[in-house]
Amino acid sequence: MTEHYTLRVNGRDHEVDGAWLGESLLYVLRDRLGLPGSKSGCEQGECGSCSVLVDGGLVCSCLVLAASAVGQEITTVEALGGPHDAMSVVQEAFVSEGGVQCGFCTPGLVMAVHDLLVRNPEPTDLDVREAISGNLCRCTGYGRVLAAVRAAVGAGGVAGAAGAAGAAGAGGRSE
Ligand code: FES
Ligand code: FES
Repeated sequence: MTEHYTLRVNGRDHEVDGAWLGESLLYVLRDRLGLPGSKSGCEQGECGSCSVLVDGGLVCSCLVLAASAVGQEITTVEALGGPHDAMSVVQEAFVSEGGVQCGFCTPGLVMAVHDLLVRNPEPTDLDVREAISGNLCRCTGYGRVLAAVRAAVGAGGVAGAAGAAGAAGAGGRSE
């Protein structure tokens, strides 16, 4: 049996037709709604590459049933930057500090750092390590990620100029 429901994603209503109720939010975002920023790594809550915000809380979208998110505000990495593909302060910092290598983990890390800086604009390195502890990166060794967070904080964090719209995206790769 298939269902129809509406998901509120990045400030817009999206109709989902012909869906199976067991589909994950990650699957629906990527394959039904055409939002490929959230990455599919492990699909079992281990890597954090699929991280999104649901009603302001950071979740692994691979572990959330899309139909259970009806009526909630979903924010993906596609929404973090400004108009005309402008990057957020956090995204800019990942690029400038070498926090992006293969880029597969980047959207999830950016979402986790964004979430952290909303809650704690001046985190210690320990705060940052804790906040990104659910995000696996096999390339950077995390040193450049920590540097990126420090740079983002120095540039104003989520309240910085490029990130003004981004209080809500380096989205990393789009495939
Ligand atoms: S794909 Fe969701 S945590 Fe890895
Ligand atoms: S940059 Fe390659 S997995 Fe993190």
